[in-house]
Amino acid sequence: MAVRVAGLRLERGGRVILRDIDLSVPQGSVTAILGPSGCGKSTLLSAVTGELSPAAGTVEVFGQPVPQRRRELLELRKRIGVLLQGNGLLTDLTAAENVALPLRTHTDLPPAVVRQLVEMKLHAVGLRAAADLYPRELSGGMARRVALARAIALDPPLMIYDEPLTGLDPIASGVIMSLISRLNRTLGLTSLIVTHHVHETLPIADRAVVIANGGIVFDGTPAELQAGADPLVRQFLDGQPDGPIPFDAAPRTEAA
Ligand SMILES: Nc1ncnc2c1ncn2[C@@H]1O[C@H](COP(=O)(O)OP(=O)(O)OP(=O)(O)O)[C@@H](O)[C@H]1O
Ligand SMILES: [Mg+2]
Repeated sequence: MAVRVAGLRLERGGRVILRDIDLSVPQGSVTAILGPSGCGKSTLLSAVTGELSPAAGTVEVFGQPVPQRRRELLELRKRIGVLLQGNGLLTDLTAAENVALPLRTHTDLPPAVVRQLVEMKLHAVGLRAAADLYPRELSGGMARRVALARAIALDPPLMIYDEPLTGLDPIASGVIMSLISRLNRTLGLTSLIVTHHVHETLPIADRAVVIANGGIVFDGTPAELQAGADPLVRQFLDGQPDGPIPFDAAPRTEAA
């Protein structure tokens, strides 16, 4: 298993966000993690990257418990590629320099090799020609792809995407989704995708997990999800404001 979560409870600011979470993610799979805003999707990811320690239960990545000690945690994080919705590109570096950053920071490869790797990664996202452009010169979709190239710079076997489609138009969304799928397949990765974009994401997912009301309310294939009759899941899929999910039960402002 790439990720194995058992009996996990996560708390923030003294409040239980998720409880009794059991989840096993096989290597090579693409898992979509869905659920209403504020249900704890990003919180779950932060337990996988070790940013947040479990209040109870365990999280294992590639068979190892996520370490608490800083040095070991940094080692683990090199093996997890993360793409956040903000992209996080440095504005005064070119696309190529942004992609080179993790290689320069975490390896002592000679500059010529770094250059070659950067070219390969940019090629993998279809942006070799954009190497010398600055982030402000890139469209939203291109910037997201540069961030993706940077996330795979160290060849991490596990990829984590938190809302990879935010702010993108339907065409750019399609490009990013097929890229995520293709990279997963060709590089033999395992991918976790947190998203509100159910209809764009399910086609490339092997598996869908729905989180609501502090726990996992569905875990199965996309086809099972779409065929499901569970009112909670239906409410989420169909975007109905009234139903078993209290949509504004956990507003962000409450946490502060
Ligand atoms: N640093 C924090 N301190 C305290 N509470 C937090 C913190 N971060 C998140 N929360 C709370 O934890 C809950 C889950 O947040 P989380 O960001 O995981 O939700 P989400 O499912 O990712 O939502 P969205 O879809 O809007 O990104 C929310 O109620 C939020 O207010
Ligand atoms: Mg989130």
